[in-house]
Amino acid sequence: MKIGPVAIAHPITLAPLEEHSNVCFRALMKRFGASLVCSERVDAERLARCDRRALRLLTTSPAESPQAGQISGRHPMVMAAAARVVEALGFRMVDLNFDCPVRRLLLRGEGGALMAHPIAVARIVAQVVQAVSVPVTLKIRSGPDDSRQTAVEVARRAEEAGAAAVSVHARSVAQGYAGGPDWEVVGQVKQAVKIPVIGSGGIREAADALRFLRQSGADAVAIGRGCLGNPWIFQQTRAMWCGGAPPPPPSRQERCRVMLQLVEDEFHLYGATVALRRLPRTAGYFAQFLGDGSEFHTAVRQVRSLQQFRQLVHKLFRQGVLQ
Ligand SMILES: Cc1cc2nc3c(=O)[nH]c(=O)nc-3n(C[C@H](O)[C@H](O)[C@H](O)COP(=O)(O)O)c2cc1C
Repeated sequence: MKIGPVAIAHPITLAPLEEHSNVCFRALMKRFGASLVCSERVDAERLARCDRRALRLLTTSPAESPQAGQISGRHPMVMAAAARVVEALGFRMVDLNFDCPVRRLLLRGEGGALMAHPIAVARIVAQVVQAVSVPVTLKIRSGPDDSRQTAVEVARRAEEAGAAAVSVHARSVAQGYAGGPDWEVVGQVKQAVKIPVIGSGGIREAADALRFLRQSGADAVAIGRGCLGNPWIFQQTRAMWCGGAPPPPPSRQERCRVMLQLVEDEFHLYGATVALRRLPRTAGYFAQFLGDGSEFHTAVRQVRSLQQFRQLVHKLFRQGVLQ
């Protein structure tokens, strides 16, 4: 698959996940075999005025190459200005978010709200395409709700406006993140456009990803919540995609090692105060694969330093307390 001039090695990619997919997380998933990763959604207005927090969300590194940065907003000129910032920060693709179902955004007419307005989406895409020299992609849903499937029309208009690829989250905006994804809609978009189509929704293990690719005919799959605490899903999916046997599941030691690595990276990225606030969630997803984590969940909230966290992991997991 090629997105504009950018070659993507294989069809197993990471879906953007707000509050999770920072640069450490993205680099980790890349190391485990994701071919493409994308930043979480960043507010275009803030980015256009170079707000420090917005810029920090777009911290990137060569380890996640080819970098893709995502923005949301509804004013074409503001989206264009924000896209120029994304490009200037070194990202090789700009992704436009028409997916987010968060109420605050919907009330502002942004994110998923735009799935009800295909022409407005096309205007934004066209303006952003003019503003940057890197490929512009978009992330959409099946439609605003079950009764209105606008994905095909939005994708067609976006392609005409110059989009280089489209990612379809196979749920409606009204569904949020619950309920079965409708993979058929991804197939319908694939039939309707020539640009690459990436699909996401409901991938929890490697076999789901392969089934999705077969059933939808999409060019790529994006793994969302299925990789939280489980980056091995990328290795497994990739091996099976290449026709091989999946590698054996990771040992407890290996799970602990990777969890510690991600936590350490977050300490470096954010500093101790923010990293400690994130710690129960960052580590909690890994802990759920390590046994009955209730003791861990209580203890992790008492941790006050990276060193204490290392000791906790050693005490609870390496010595087999939580068998
Ligand atoms: C916690 C969370 C945060 C998300 N953040 C974003 C985001 O910032 N940008 C985006 O395009 N999609 C976002 N998504 C949607 C995912 O990229 C993906 O399409 C969806 O999670 C796929 O469904 P699955 O998790 O059931 O596999 C988010 C999803 C979740 C669960």
